[in-house]
Amino acid sequence: MDFSLTEEQKLIQQAAKDFAQTELLPEVIERDDAQRFPEEEVKKLGELGFLGMMVDPKYGGSGLDTLSYVLAMEELSKIDASTSVIMSVNNSLVCWGLEKFGTEEQKEKYLTKIATGEILGAFCLSEPEAGSDATSQRTTAIDQGDHYILNGTKNWITNGSSASVYIVIAQTDKEKKHRGINALIVEKGAEGFEIGPKENKLGIRGSDTHSLIFNDVKVPKSNRIGEDGFGFKFAMKTLAGGRIGIAAQALGIAAGAYELALKYSKERKAFGTEISNHQAIAFKLADMHTDIQAARLLVYQAARDKDNGTNYDLSGAMAKLYASKVAMETTVEAVQIHGGNGFVKDYHVERLMRDAKITQIYEGTSEIQKIVISRSILQ
Ligand code: CAA
Repeated sequence: MDFSLTEEQKLIQQAAKDFAQTELLPEVIERDDAQRFPEEEVKKLGELGFLGMMVDPKYGGSGLDTLSYVLAMEELSKIDASTSVIMSVNNSLVCWGLEKFGTEEQKEKYLTKIATGEILGAFCLSEPEAGSDATSQRTTAIDQGDHYILNGTKNWITNGSSASVYIVIAQTDKEKKHRGINALIVEKGAEGFEIGPKENKLGIRGSDTHSLIFNDVKVPKSNRIGEDGFGFKFAMKTLAGGRIGIAAQALGIAAGAYELALKYSKERKAFGTEISNHQAIAFKLADMHTDIQAARLLVYQAARDKDNGTNYDLSGAMAKLYASKVAMETTVEAVQIHGGNGFVKDYHVERLMRDAKITQIYEGTSEIQKIVISRSILQ
């Protein structure tokens, strides 16, 4: 396995690192406190080409590979996971699915604007009673000839109020179970489409997470993605790639916390010496470094699989499962190394610890990743 980076990949990595330091770091604590969406910062991400990284330039994208996307996600997530999830959803769950399965008309109308960051997209699968059990969709899209009538509620939607275009998964034919589900493109402002209150979250507090309510919303059939009944497969295929993005986010959170803990341990003194000279701290750093490198290899491998056209359901699920576990464990240890200061917002590690938790939950919980992994190795 050779993960040496090309000159272009190194440039992307450096650009993301610089962006995170100069644009995200200065107000990251205030945004987290106030639950403030990084509006200006996201605009600049679009100008950098980071909101449609893997999209063909003919649709306004940057035409880069998955490994470049993962490198950028990792660097941004070291500093601000709220901003990186906005970027991840736009890239993996919205742009990718539209480019891969959308019609030419849908790509021209929606993808170009979303890939350039002119507008944002959202992916709406989860419901109050359909989280992990995603086939149990209660939202209905009833076929009315040339359009669908959409009714139901979606929960925990990233970019919930900041998006302009929503990909909504809904049940058309209940008898056909998951084969009767469709994916529809819904525009903000459609009659009957209401955005629910913003969630008050433990972590990634800068991103806007909302419930969405659909009350007899008319959606033209030309806004359906793929054939009738393709919606569930569409969601699964899209999420398989999304999981690589979240794995990279988890990796970045872990690496960010480790870098802070390493620096702190060389500055902070106790018992007459820097705390890094105490084996109790040095061993923690050794474990963190090893775990992060193992997670990085899994994440890069999944990205490579996607770039090579190899199936990445298994490698993406393993990367997300492991990287999110490492993110959680590493951030807890980073807080511990910081001692009392770790419990204080100014030192950043408590935020990283709170942000880490969601990587074990969204885009498939760790338990769901284990279902995907075990089915894959047992088939
Ligand atoms: N690619 C293509 N098709 C797939 C697939 C994949 N990766 N995985 C499953 N499918 C297909 C199956 O082939 C099957 O179709 P057929 O019957 O036609 O062959 C169909 O999907 C149903 O599959 P299963 O029988 O395996 O379904 P299941 O009920 O056992 O569930 C599951 C499978 C993996 C548990 C799935 O429900 C799942 O992934 N759940 C988690 C949902 C999830 O990740 N939610 C995240 C919400 S989005 C989010 O968090 C975004 C955000 O804002 C950050």
